[in-house]
Amino acid sequence: MLFSKKTPSAEVDLTRLPRHIAIIMDGNGRWAQKRHLPRSGGHAAGAETLRKIATQVKKLGIPYLTLYAFSTENWKRAPEEVSAIMGLLKNYLLEALRDMDKNQFQIDFFGDLSALDPDLQALCAQVRESSARYPQCRMNICLNYGGRDEILQAVRAYAADCLAGRADPEALTEAGFEGYLYSHGVPDPDLIIRPSGEQRLSNFLLWQAAYAEFYYTDVLWPDFQESDLLAAIAAYQQRKRRFGGV
Ligand code: IPE
Ligand code: IPE
Ligand code: MG
Repeated sequence: MLFSKKTPSAEVDLTRLPRHIAIIMDGNGRWAQKRHLPRSGGHAAGAETLRKIATQVKKLGIPYLTLYAFSTENWKRAPEEVSAIMGLLKNYLLEALRDMDKNQFQIDFFGDLSALDPDLQALCAQVRESSARYPQCRMNICLNYGGRDEILQAVRAYAADCLAGRADPEALTEAGFEGYLYSHGVPDPDLIIRPSGEQRLSNFLLWQAAYAEFYYTDVLWPDFQESDLLAAIAAYQQRKRRFGGV
């Protein structure tokens, strides 16, 4: 019998798509290094991949896409790299504003935006507000986001509500606590994709990932293609999700 060395194109069942895909957009630096480019060149290429994959997610009719763009730990990087990433984000958001009626994404942000440049904060607010009219496909951009930070800020807000008499500690439920998270109102991710070969969460969606399916690939984010997304979805569809049952 003959076996083809080529990976067969992923078979995706369009009736059983994940409702929420989250992506850790990793590998930009290594992509740039391989090409003897500055790391910022990798981030620029990664932003192109984001445009392409977001369009594909929307076309598939998947209603939620969450993207890890900048973590609370990424401030450890060189100032030039941080400003290059922030500059690319700014361009991305300006473009999102300009093309909003064409692309039709609702864009929201998870993370502590107060640490960002005031201009960028204002732009985020403007994008959030004016994109609210397109709720069919919601994109959440995680910016200065950390899962631990998210849980801590929720606990702080909740404790303040308790002290003010607005909340009763005995009555706290998981659903009630979720109301304090950046992701309130968004269902948990069904599928978390991490390119670049790393197999870790790196402080992404710690609470929300409780029952997510994970998909790792060695492909670097700037090289990630539509076919890679389909492969991830096909792998997801092979999984048996039990949620602790049998
Ligand atoms: C992900 O790519 C982008 C951000 C973390 C902002 P990296 O810059 O982490 O790429 P590698 O991991 O160094 O290849
Ligand atoms: C995670 O990637 C953060 C983003 C993709 C925004 P990192 O490159 O920062 O994660 P580590 O350092 O490899 O864990
Ligand atoms: Mg990385």
